Amino acid sequence: MSAASSIDLRSDTVTKPTAGMRRAMADADVGDDVYGEDPTVLRLQERAAELTGRERALFVPSGTMANQVSLLVHCERGDEVIVGEGTHCNWYESGAGPAWAGVQFAVIPGDGLYSPDQARAAAKPVSYHFPRTRLVVIENTHNRSGGRIWPQDDVRRVAEWARGSGIAVHLDGARIFNAAVASGCSVRELVAPTDTVSFCFSKGLGAPVGSVLCGPADLMVRAHRYRKMLGGGMRQAGVLAAAALYALEHHVERLADDHANARAMAEAMEGAPGIASVVPPETNILMVDLVSRTGTDMVDRLRAAGVLVNAVGPRRLRLVTHMDVDRDAVLLAARRIREVAA
Ligand SMILES: Cc1ncc(COP(=O)(O)O)c(C=O)c1O
Repeated sequence: MSAASSIDLRSDTVTKPTAGMRRAMADADVGDDVYGEDPTVLRLQERAAELTGRERALFVPSGTMANQVSLLVHCERGDEVIVGEGTHCNWYESGAGPAWAGVQFAVIPGDGLYSPDQARAAAKPVSYHFPRTRLVVIENTHNRSGGRIWPQDDVRRVAEWARGSGIAVHLDGARIFNAAVASGCSVRELVAPTDTVSFCFSKGLGAPVGSVLCGPADLMVRAHRYRKMLGGGMRQAGVLAAAALYALEHHVERLADDHANARAMAEAMEGAPGIASVVPPETNILMVDLVSRTGTDMVDRLRAAGVLVNAVGPRRLRLVTHMDVDRDAVLLAARRIREVAA
């Protein structure tokens, strides 16, 4: 069965721009953004800075580039970055952090979320013998642990400790709007304790391309330079910024539907034969553990049955709800998963 005719739960990145979003893209006022002359990009950057309570924001092609630019602005070669297990910049960025920024990662084992005590224990003593611990990365929501939301008190305490130790905090908020909608806190509140924050328009918000990195003006001047060095300068990028602005206006509150659909799927699969457990979803990512089938075997069988999912462990599947799958589609997918798992 083709991807187009399947129920695609591999990621919330698979959404296609809606008719309204396409119209906004077609009508966008544009200019050359490498010259800083694209009015729609400038408007998007102002809006992102306002939403996150930062002095400036920079539009970049991807969440990966936003993370890489943040490593470059905060760290020097040989520095160390504290991350939770499974964090995107350590796990899914093809080794870019060590390759381009020259940093190494101190990985805190566990589910991707960590306590202030664990962060403190992961930091190296200050000495020329050791890498300089320069940055901690908080990923909220945390993708690989199943879209989990960081307890805000932990974000605050990790940031307090870091600041007191001369360590910066970057928040990879690729899905921070999911965290905001699910927790009832504003994005501004959630990111307030951190130094820089990035978020993506191309995930649950449904835009085709784009992320932003937000932070204080001095760091963002350097970020702008690093974006250029990495080849992230885009010319008439207003067509993309228009999609992002449209997403901010129309696609934030509806994330609650994705969360409700993930919960409905979880309920429909819990306790079914062949399914060992379903991790209760906090947002739009659902982890399903299998009794005996391997993840890759399930992926192949489900593909043939018209359901696309990813395996993220030997017996673990990841299902992601998004704006292109409605309640009927997710319940049909849950039924097929139950049948194949059994
Ligand atoms: C938490 C997190 N950060 C960063 C990214 C990278 O985004 P992109 O695919 O736009 O590079 C992703 C992508 O899934 C993600 O889940």
